[in-house]
Amino acid sequence: MSDILVLTGSPRKNGNTRMLADAFVDGAAEGGLDVRVIHVAGLNIAPCQGCGYCQEHEGVCIQKDDMARIMPHLYSARTIVFATPVYYFAMSAQLKTALDRMYATLAKPPTIDSCILLAVYGDTDTTVPEALIHNYKVFTGYSGWKDLGIVTAAGVNDAGEIAGHPALEEARELGKSLVSLFRKS
Ligand SMILES: Cc1cc2nc3c(=O)[nH]c(=O)nc-3n(C[C@H](O)[C@H](O)[C@H](O)COP(=O)(O)O)c2cc1C
Repeated sequence: MSDILVLTGSPRKNGNTRMLADAFVDGAAEGGLDVRVIHVAGLNIAPCQGCGYCQEHEGVCIQKDDMARIMPHLYSARTIVFATPVYYFAMSAQLKTALDRMYATLAKPPTIDSCILLAVYGDTDTTVPEALIHNYKVFTGYSGWKDLGIVTAAGVNDAGEIAGHPALEEARELGKSLVSLFRKS
């Protein structure tokens, strides 16, 4: 059981995505929130086959892989955080693969009611994450999840280049801000 589930989608384990996610987690944990971080890119998750088995079997997927490590948390956490590098104007394929597998939750609604997007990218053109943000807004809106915040870090390419970037403080503050939100309800 955790308050927040963070899914990180970069194959670079100690890259910029991870550092941005860590800043968010530090802020949330400072306020005593329980946070679970899962490095999705390090898991073995096969793409959804669209077979519909899950819809007939209470959200259980016919494929047996590491998605089973994420699913239980969708039924205990309240907020889900998508942390990703921008790959060709979208989230990483690793994270999208896990998201597609959440299709199974249509058959058995999760406890998630809110969401956050954290994204890093190499370009300094701040229009780069627009398509990703639009996608995030439509799929989370469809899922009925309230958007609690979006933090993006532009101009970071090499692993660790995000050090000192203002987005880290923004992510930490966003994490902290959830404490009062969670206490109110
Ligand atoms: C396959 C691939 C696609 C990328 N596509 C974009 C892109 O469309 N726009 C951009 O600004 N940066 C792009 N980048 C750069 C990454 O977003 C950037 O290096 C980021 O900091 C990587 O995060 P990480 O350190 O967490 O892996 C791409 C990098 C890779 C490897």
